[in-house]
Amino acid sequence: MTENMFDLTGKTALVTGSTQGIGFEIARELAAHGATVFVNGASSEEKCAAAAAKIPGSVPVRADLLTEEGLDTLYKTTGDVDILVLNASIQYKRAWDEFTPEEYDIQLNCNLKSSYWLIRRYAPGMKARGWGRIVTVGSVNQYNQHPELSLYGVTKAAQLKLVKNIAGALAPHGVTVNNVAPGAIATPRNQTITDDPALRAAVEQKIPAGRFGKPEDISPTVLLLCSEAGSYITGADIVIDGGMSLR
Ligand SMILES: NC(=O)c1ccc[n+]([C@@H]2O[C@H](COP(=O)([O-])OP(=O)(O)OC[C@H]3O[C@@H](n4cnc5c(N)ncnc54)[C@H](OP(=O)(O)O)[C@@H]3O)[C@@H](O)[C@H]2O)c1
Repeated sequence: MTENMFDLTGKTALVTGSTQGIGFEIARELAAHGATVFVNGASSEEKCAAAAAKIPGSVPVRADLLTEEGLDTLYKTTGDVDILVLNASIQYKRAWDEFTPEEYDIQLNCNLKSSYWLIRRYAPGMKARGWGRIVTVGSVNQYNQHPELSLYGVTKAAQLKLVKNIAGALAPHGVTVNNVAPGAIATPRNQTITDDPALRAAVEQKIPAGRFGKPEDISPTVLLLCSEAGSYITGADIVIDGGMSLR
């Protein structure tokens, strides 16, 4: 294998939910390897622009994946891309019988419905060019049972099923479709836990590697899946959790 199998020069990539956390680091990694990357978030133009300003070779695009209009805006702004990383998600922690109808819809729409419709929009261009990479970001909650993440786990398990069901259809066209499943990663989402020594220790004692993961623990695997080096990997689900799911 040669180093240039990871070179993404000339490729375009969209990473959803890349204004912070894991998505930001994936966007940074893909851009560092030569891709032109679209940095996406929903909350504000300013936050998207600030994140993109930290990544040379990136372009901000504010678009809310919860709305049809947001999906339209995203596709109209980026046009067809070579690499689609479906990273954005919304998570509510509640007992299984405490979700409101709105919370149900928001989680399902952001984490699952938008993934399906974005793949529907971007896959035809990839097929036409005979090259494409689609990576979904799942979670160990695809498998684990968690008392407060019942619906979140459903969205991630369903998104993985989508990957498995789609990968075979796109493989003859040079398009791979894979999922990565992170464990507990130190991102803004988990900041109340990671900032509290007792809460942090309680999570870390469940992880054989003994620590929270970092976004940088996830991005190299996504780079592999998006590169020439990953061209024969499709329909895969790669768990990156420091051994958390072994316990
Ligand atoms: N952190 C973990 O321990 C962990 C573990 C397993 C799996 N994961 C998965 O890894 C991915 C990233 O997690 P993270 O911890 O980095 O998340 P995070 O810190 O909560 O960041 C979420 C990102 O998604 C964007 N986003 C939220 N709603 C959106 C919407 N409606 N439309 C477009 N973008 C939206 C946010 O952008 P704005 O704020 O700019 O709107 C932000 O950039 C998620 O799929 C998550 O489920 C995380």
